[in-house]
Amino acid sequence: MLAAVMSATLVGLDALPVSVEVDVGPGLPSFAIVGLPDAAVQEARERVRAAIRNSRYEMPPRRTVVNLAPGDRRKEGPGLDLPIALGVLIATGQLSQEAVRGYLAIGELALDGSLRQIPGVLPVAQAGRALGARGLLVPEPNAVEAAVVEEVPVYALPTLRAVIDHLTGARRVTPTAATVPPPLPAQTSSLDLASVRAQPAARRALEIAAAGGLNVLLVGPPGVGKTMLARRLPTILPALSRVEAVEVTKIYSVAGRLPAGSGLIWQRPFRTPHHTASASAMIGGGGGPRPGEITLAHHGVLFLDELPEFRHDVLEGLRQPLEDGMVVVARVHGAVRFPARFMLVAAMNPCACGYRGDAHRTCTCTPGQVQRYLARVSGPLLDRIDLHLEVPRPPTDALLAGPPGESSLRVRDRVIAARERAAHRAARGGSIPTGPHGWRGIDTVDDGALGVLRSAAERLMLGARATERVLCVARAIADLDGSDHIRSAHVAEALQYRALDRSAGRPP
Ligand SMILES: Nc1ncnc2c1ncn2[C@@H]1O[C@H](COP(=O)(O)OP(=O)(O)O)[C@@H](O)[C@H]1O
Ligand SMILES: [Mg+2]
Ligand SMILES: [Zn+2]
Repeated sequence: MLAAVMSATLVGLDALPVSVEVDVGPGLPSFAIVGLPDAAVQEARERVRAAIRNSRYEMPPRRTVVNLAPGDRRKEGPGLDLPIALGVLIATGQLSQEAVRGYLAIGELALDGSLRQIPGVLPVAQAGRALGARGLLVPEPNAVEAAVVEEVPVYALPTLRAVIDHLTGARRVTPTAATVPPPLPAQTSSLDLASVRAQPAARRALEIAAAGGLNVLLVGPPGVGKTMLARRLPTILPALSRVEAVEVTKIYSVAGRLPAGSGLIWQRPFRTPHHTASASAMIGGGGGPRPGEITLAHHGVLFLDELPEFRHDVLEGLRQPLEDGMVVVARVHGAVRFPARFMLVAAMNPCACGYRGDAHRTCTCTPGQVQRYLARVSGPLLDRIDLHLEVPRPPTDALLAGPPGESSLRVRDRVIAARERAAHRAARGGSIPTGPHGWRGIDTVDDGALGVLRSAAERLMLGARATERVLCVARAIADLDGSDHIRSAHVAEALQYRALDRSAGRPP
């Protein structure tokens, strides 16, 4: 007898509908899975066999063939265990095809028949909605995540037996309620900019970056607060929208980083990969493939501390995603795209010993050493960082006894106002500061500002890309200033944030 059960498999961040067909017929006892299964899907045979027996159903010794359609697309992961088991039970007359009709089933089976959490259930639930499924059968730890898709009832099931009992009506499960605790508008965080003393220029640069969604590089000696400042950037960014929260949650779900029982992620991501990270950990790759740090930072902040210490291939690999807001990761069967629209915050010392330009310590580096150190961060990468900033060592008094800084909430109010101004202008068809991802039209730059920009570009030998960065920064400054027009003062301030174009390779 032939059975068919609806399921899905991951392709990048999305799920592809899969029809699991099972035929059990006469012949030598065997169990074959066809339709481009990966190794984890192949191993379903052993898990399904044991789970069926240990759930006190029968696994008759006959010829069993599982076909995963469409046959030309790779199927990955252990999530097809459950639909395969249901198909076997239907094909062997232990469950009616009618009971399963319209349901989408997904989940990994343990040998004892219990259902385990799997990655990527949120995109699978979206696929179920697109298919018009009457319900989703998912492992209990994945249910809240699946219920983010509100239009389809989600059934949280602990075991294979519970699935059958639900389908046959022996013991119905009530659908998991969609939990929509919206984010508190004033997202509470233990971190606050108030605890950063002094450093007015760095605080200002962070505010500009937040307003424009721009990338920042902080250059300064150890212990001046670079890491402190970077960690506080998410506290001055607006809350995620629901659409953004769903995107972020999908990424963490597919990456297998969603804790059991959790629903939407409302916090902006803040990722701090170590400088030893491999290219595939940073950019994405491996089996699947899985999203890398740049995708885990989507809609949030990617913090690269000690920027020059990162591997050369990693730094070069950042260039394209910084430009495009997404990354294409190759795999055996085609390539997948992952979104990667993040704010980059990088920190570095001004030289190898760390004390170049420090009033309190003497730099022991030779000019050649300084140059080699700075050269590890290539010009093309620097060009894609909007704000370069020297963070000096403040007087000890200012650090110990200075007044606390302005709170994150107050700064964030200004950031939100600036972003709203930009959004209104965009809605009216004006020019938009789209951060590192393109700035269109210079129609709102006044003539004086253009003059300042032109002469500075010549004097500092700014390339086209760096000049564009200056305009993006000036755009954000004007928005913070409540001005749709970019004036000379905005450009003049923006030009101060090209420290490395000015000082690269030269001793201070
Ligand atoms: N501007 C500052 N305001 C308050 N504390 C600071 C400041 N700068 C440094 N500190 C103190 O020094 C420690 C080290 O700062 P950190 O941010 O790690 O410096 P960096 O990253 O520049 O090396 C912080 O944990 C904090 O206690
Ligand atoms: Mg640090
Ligand atoms: Zn030095």
